[in-house]
Amino acid sequence: LLRFVLGRCSHCVKICDVEEADKADVDEAVRAARAAGQRGSEWRQMDASSRGRLLHRLADLLERERAVLATLESMDTGKPFLHAFFVDLDGSIKTLRYYAGWTDKIHGKTMPVDENFVCFTKHEPVGVCGAIIPWNFPLLMFMWKIAPALACGNTVVIKPAEQTPLTALHTGALIKEAGFPPGVVNIVPGFGPTAGAAIGSHMNIDKVAFTGSTEVGQLIKAAAAKSNLKRVTLELGGKNPCIVFADSDLQSAVEETQKGAFFNQGQACTAASRVYVEEAVYDEFLRLSVERAKNIAIGDPLEPRTSHGPQINQHQFDKILELVASGKKEGATLECGGCAVEDRGLFIHPTIFSDVKDHMRIAKEEIFGPVQCIMKFKTQEEVIDRANGTQYGLTAAVFTRDIHRAMSVSAALEAGTVWVNCYNALHAQAPFGGYKMSGNGRELGEYALAEYTEVKAITLKLSERLTL
Ligand code: NAI
Ligand code: MG
Repeated sequence: LLRFVLGRCSHCVKICDVEEADKADVDEAVRAARAAGQRGSEWRQMDASSRGRLLHRLADLLERERAVLATLESMDTGKPFLHAFFVDLDGSIKTLRYYAGWTDKIHGKTMPVDENFVCFTKHEPVGVCGAIIPWNFPLLMFMWKIAPALACGNTVVIKPAEQTPLTALHTGALIKEAGFPPGVVNIVPGFGPTAGAAIGSHMNIDKVAFTGSTEVGQLIKAAAAKSNLKRVTLELGGKNPCIVFADSDLQSAVEETQKGAFFNQGQACTAASRVYVEEAVYDEFLRLSVERAKNIAIGDPLEPRTSHGPQINQHQFDKILELVASGKKEGATLECGGCAVEDRGLFIHPTIFSDVKDHMRIAKEEIFGPVQCIMKFKTQEEVIDRANGTQYGLTAAVFTRDIHRAMSVSAALEAGTVWVNCYNALHAQAPFGGYKMSGNGRELGEYALAEYTEVKAITLKLSERLTL
């Protein structure tokens, strides 16, 4: 593998062929998952702390294979190797360890009902959990889905994105090596309309977790409603606003918002694609941002100094450049970038638009590319309305040194996550998910456990009244 990597150029090259799972394979995977989780099975009978040990063992194996997985991820997605190594792998390992700690701490309550009854709840696994994940953070999304599902004792059928199945497949071997019973995790690499749709509409899948486009999220929710009413959690798009006040540490705000906009070549649901800057510091913010964007190291993703790689595929590349063209046409000022890197296949220069107006397509639509839109604002009330004026509500950020302002603006923003003086600060302990059309439910943190458990109330009638 490594020899092959060293000889590689920065244009698209074929890495390998992967078997395509279709509906019949999904059926088989669901049968295996159902059998592995049924009453009396090894997995179902395993005590909770042993489940935790298995998750820790898988995390150990990810640590052992960290360089291999980061290389595979970089080759498969085009993301810089160092980002894969330090962000994707780090987050994947931490997610596993975090949920490994939860396995034996998931428990019910006792309710004070009429005195001749005893009533308590048990938190049981939901059953077979389907998962459909995208290509932007393949391994990390894999772990966001399987770690809480397994911690709660479920079994899983997971479909990686057709563009990026490799780290999931390699992890399949590690799951076996860790010692999870056969059938607990089933990986079905396939296309959306076939394998993906089969998961959404399956009568024998109890829950589906999806990350991807809002459009497909709607299809999945409809398919769930029309089949067996399976539970659905969705993590969809964003058009995430950053608000930079004049009293903020401007250099740091420039860096954080720009990392937010360009990280992963802008291919992130958290992309900081709308930056509202207070009038008094607008010109300076813009100048510093453009200077920084022009110095971003574009290059072979496997080179350690590279921090900006290619877009995932031709379709996304074309979509981004079409939106850039619309920005120019609608009258925004192109400050830098705005075009492909010459002779470099799917690379796009980090792009900044200024004088962006809220009605422009680049200010409204998810671009999913390295495009930062910078707007000017005058008052706090005005900017909150403008920031919230979107169908999305995934993340947002506020930059200010004033704690009172930070608190009141955070409270007013319609978003599942608000970062203050930082961006993309994700932690396995904190819930992540969207308001409005950015999704349903929460991943990560204690909150995700509720998505992966059924609550059973058990009520016992006592033959003798309790004397209190
Ligand atoms: P997509 O939503 O089509 O793909 C995501 C996953 O859904 C993949 O595994 C795909 O195979 C699956 N899928 C596709 N059609 C399906 C169907 N009919 N039933 C079940 N599963 C299906 O996203 P795509 O086409 O790769 O990108 C389109 C846009 O979606 C991007 O430009 C971006 O705006 C957004 N997106 C958002 C992501 C996020 O992190 N929230 C990730 C990827 C894309
Ligand atoms: Mg699609």
